[in-house]
Amino acid sequence: MAWVVFRVLVSCELPATLAAGIATSLGVVLSLLGGTWWRRIWIGAGFPLSLMLSTSVMGLPSLPAWTWLVPLAVLLLIYPVKAWRDAPLFPTPARALDDLPKYAPLPADARILDAGCGTGAGLQALHSAYPHAQLYGLEYAWPLRLLCSLRCPWARVRQGNIWTADWSGYAMVYLFQRPESMGRAVAKGSELPAGAWMVSLEFEATELIAKASYRAPGGKMVWLYEAPFHRRG
Ligand SMILES: C[S@@+](CC[C@H](N)C(=O)[O-])C[C@H]1O[C@@H](n2cnc3c(N)ncnc32)[C@H](O)[C@@H]1O
Repeated sequence: MAWVVFRVLVSCELPATLAAGIATSLGVVLSLLGGTWWRRIWIGAGFPLSLMLSTSVMGLPSLPAWTWLVPLAVLLLIYPVKAWRDAPLFPTPARALDDLPKYAPLPADARILDAGCGTGAGLQALHSAYPHAQLYGLEYAWPLRLLCSLRCPWARVRQGNIWTADWSGYAMVYLFQRPESMGRAVAKGSELPAGAWMVSLEFEATELIAKASYRAPGGKMVWLYEAPFHRRG
């Protein structure tokens, strides 16, 4: 928006510095909408920073226009358009799953899937909770999948869609998705064999009765559903 205002003011023959000042002020005012200080800083600083990089400052050559496509391409690789309605990357806090075996004890070589494993924080938390389990990760965005394989060499990580994958071979499927995805997860969870677990960090499957739930260190809730699921009502 700041760029549009800047361009319009310059085309109305306002001096560029005044136009830049007005556009920057607009960004700073709108930064008040940011929920955290970091967001406010990015919103407020975005226009002057990109203006500085786009014009030659202190004798440095300006960036050619196409370079702005590079961060866009990186963003699209990390968040493919198809995954937009699902969860963005948000890692499981370390030690959040330490108490999980108390509620869902599993045999030593049980197969556990982190559905949407991101960069591997969830797999690491599962590994410390169930050190002898066979851990699997599935991730839609391939740069995240690659990073996850590097961080979790003991897990079998592959690129794929959690909603089309087969869940029937797992003793536990761990999810940290979005509230909107929980209905889909409930339907998908019907593939789990009797006695297997669907575990969701933070987001409750409101149509089901949880077998257990607890507040993890760091404050997030952990919801446990044992197959076959019990529905409310
Ligand atoms: C909130 S993050 C959780 C990451 C990891 N499970 C953790 O707890 O640290 C959700 C992840 O799910 C991935 N994801 C979202 N939709 C997906 C889908 N349909 N198939 C595979 N991965 C998906 C996202 O790319 C993102 O990395």
